This record gives sequence, C-alpha cells and structure tokens, in this order.
Amino acid sequence: MRVALLILLGLVIGVIGTVNVMNALSARNPMPKAVMVTMGYHMGELSHALKAGKCDAAQTQHHLERMQSTATDIVPVFGINEHSFTDKAGELQTHVLQALQTAPANCAALATVIKPIGDTCKSCHQQYR
Ligand code: HEC
Repeated sequence: MRVALLILLGLVIGVIGTVNVMNALSARNPMPKAVMVTMGYHMGELSHALKAGKCDAAQTQHHLERMQSTATDIVPVFGINEHSFTDKAGELQTHVLQALQTAPANCAALATVIKPIGDTCKSCHQQYR
C-alpha cells in the first residue's frame, strides 16, 4: 500500500513538473510581435489609401494616431537597451508626430510625410529584425 502511494505521489510530482516546464516554454513573450503587427497594419492601411488615390484626412489621422501611440510601446516591450535601437524607436515617434502635425489632407501630402516613417521602419529592421 505504502509503495503504491509513493509511486502515485511520484507520478503526480512528475506531471506537475512537466506542466511547469511546458508553461515556461510557451511563455515566449508575444508582445513585440503584436506591437509590430499593429504598426504594419496601420502602415498598410495608409499605403493602400495611397495606392487607391483615396486619402481621407480623418482616416489618415486615425492611422497616424494609432501608430504614434503604438510606437511608444516599442522600447518597453522589446527590452533592447542598445542606443541604436532606442534612437530608432525615438526617431519613429518624431516622424509620426511630425506627420500628425502636418495633418495631411490629400495623397500628395500623405506621401511626403509617410516617406521618413517608412525609412525609419526599414532602417531598424535592417539592423534588428
Ligand atoms: C526600433 C526598431 C523598429 C522600428 C522603428 C520598427 N520596427 Fe518593425 N520590427 C522590429 C523588430 C526587432 C522586429 C522583429 C520582431 C520579432 O520577430 O519578434 C520587427 C518586425 C516587424 C514586423 C513583422 C512582425 C511579425 O509578423 O513577426 C512588421 C510587420 C513590422 N516590424 C512593421 C513595422 C513598421 C510598419 C514600422 C514603422 C512604422 C516598424 N516595424 C518599425 C523593430 C522595429
């Protein structure tokens, strides 16, 4: 009887241990990817608008605002403390803010302000992605 109980206890401990290990393995932080997917979505919507030649001022403003607030998540979420990374994240915030301030009302204006934003995405991706 005692032996059977010990074997059962051993099994239970084994199962608990396995579950803990599985949890640790699946805990890879999904936030960095989530932040970038969000950036990609809003950037994508803006470039679709450009391609379609339909750059509604309110829509543009909405996507730029979402990019501005999402950009502030990059540094805390990625946890990369290299200067070059934090500088590029800061640069992105600056360009998005400048874009918002010019309030692009047509496609020509949007194309002008979106260029430096896209360049900043590219420059960080070349180094860190
Ligand atoms: C400061 C650096 C930095 C900036 C600026 C940046 N990114 Fe990223 N981005 C990354 C890194 C690092 C990855 C790789 C993330 C990973 O695989 O976990 C990435 C990945 C991505 C991905 C792929 C996500 C996936 O499905 O795995 C997209 C889309 C993306 N970025 C869009 C953008 C857009 C659009 C911008 C500009 C508006 C931007 N990023 C600006 C660092 C940056």
